[in-house]
Amino acid sequence: MSAEAVKSNLPPGPTPFQALSRGLRWHRDRIHSVVEAHELYGDVAMSRFGRLTIIFVAHPEAVQECLVSKHRDFHKSRAYFALRLVLGRGLVTSEDEFHLRQRRMIQPAFHRERVLGYGIPMIKYSAEFAASIADGQRFDMNRAMMQTTLKIVGEALFSSNIADSTDRVGHALDTLMHMDAVFLNPLGPFISKLPIPINTLRKKMTAELDDVMFNMIREHRERGDQGDLLSMLLAARDEDDGTGMTDKQVRDEAVTLFLAGHETTANALTWTWYTLSQHPEVEAKFHAELAEVLGGRDPEPKDYEKLVYTRQVLAETMRLFPPVWTVAREAIRDTTLGGYDVPKGAQVVTSTYVTHRDPRWWKEPLAFRPERFAPGAGEGRPKFAYYPFGGGKRLCIGEGFAWMEGVLVLAAIGQRWRFQVPEGHVPDLDPHITLRPKNGLPMIACAR
Ligand code: HEM
Repeated sequence: MSAEAVKSNLPPGPTPFQALSRGLRWHRDRIHSVVEAHELYGDVAMSRFGRLTIIFVAHPEAVQECLVSKHRDFHKSRAYFALRLVLGRGLVTSEDEFHLRQRRMIQPAFHRERVLGYGIPMIKYSAEFAASIADGQRFDMNRAMMQTTLKIVGEALFSSNIADSTDRVGHALDTLMHMDAVFLNPLGPFISKLPIPINTLRKKMTAELDDVMFNMIREHRERGDQGDLLSMLLAARDEDDGTGMTDKQVRDEAVTLFLAGHETTANALTWTWYTLSQHPEVEAKFHAELAEVLGGRDPEPKDYEKLVYTRQVLAETMRLFPPVWTVAREAIRDTTLGGYDVPKGAQVVTSTYVTHRDPRWWKEPLAFRPERFAPGAGEGRPKFAYYPFGGGKRLCIGEGFAWMEGVLVLAAIGQRWRFQVPEGHVPDLDPHITLRPKNGLPMIACAR
């Protein structure tokens, strides 16, 4: 082989010393660390900390390579270890043939007609929230949206008798997800085995989660089809060999849908109420659409398709505040992205947050303009300039569910209420696996 052929073409990046000091800062300010890596080194940047190689990818074409055309060169990143502790081997955390088989079996539960059926709980629990607040009341919007979307996905999964089970699952998941920072680092697998209090609590919460889930699974097996997602998981059969899932697999998939299905949408909704509160002209157009489509009545699932501007507001909010702010992978063989070498074992971090704010694809990127998502407005923009739901084989299975839920919740609540941020409050970003507002988002309810 010629010297030219073996010459490496690794992405540019900081020296090992600079990388170390940046790595330490990563824990204090993850978003800024990623933004800075691209500002300094361009579309594909590399940081090395000892044996850990992290490659940051921002160019839409390189993102597309990672998630679509070269997806076979990647698995989920090591950071998913923290999620595996909670979710086991569900859709989000499994790989290869097993993932494909599970995806094939679960996909029918997310067909358009099925999703339309989940519209009823979406509206019901939004109306319940709307009836629970008083004019002038100050409350934490993030918590309120978490509770609302948890009930919605709880009913979609379990259909009946959900109140107690949903609360228990919600509490266990919330406690477990607040531990993510401890396990979301290269020492996570080691820490998870130590006899320390956090592991005792983790095991207790996992046992609680398992107790609710296995009880629900037993009940569902006894009663037969309840018309909900859990019934579909239990009835699903592999088209090749005709076998279904074990109780443990159903448990892992159901917990996965619970988690993936509520926190993301809750953050999208929280940020949407925030952006609406900051842009009166957009809020006025949103109200005008509600008046035109609903004429004062509560929404019905079929109104979703008519609430076109509401959907654009949600889309523009997810551009600036993508609920899943990085989509991360590990290279399982030597490969390339954006023309640069990516060595086997490298952790690849693509950032929706960075690409969604890139002035090359978005004119005046910090301006809030829902019209960017009007039909035809995005012509010429690369496909992966906007990818809040990921892409390729691992595209969010709940995307249709999430759009409908987001729009119907906004419509059902927005009919009766508008919200303001207390004067002087500027929300800070809290980027975990999802992008939350730090310490919640205080808002004040104003009757319309
Ligand atoms: C605004 C709301 C949502 C956002 C922004 C979102 C975002 C995402 C993203 C970016 C991925 C890909 C992750 C990766 O490739 O590493 C994903 C995967 C997934 N999402 Fe969502 N999601 C949302 C709502 C939902 C809902 C409502 C459900 C279910 C009810 C759901 C279930 C899943 C599942 C199961 C996966 C894994 C799919 C697979 O790998 O086959 N998500 N989501």
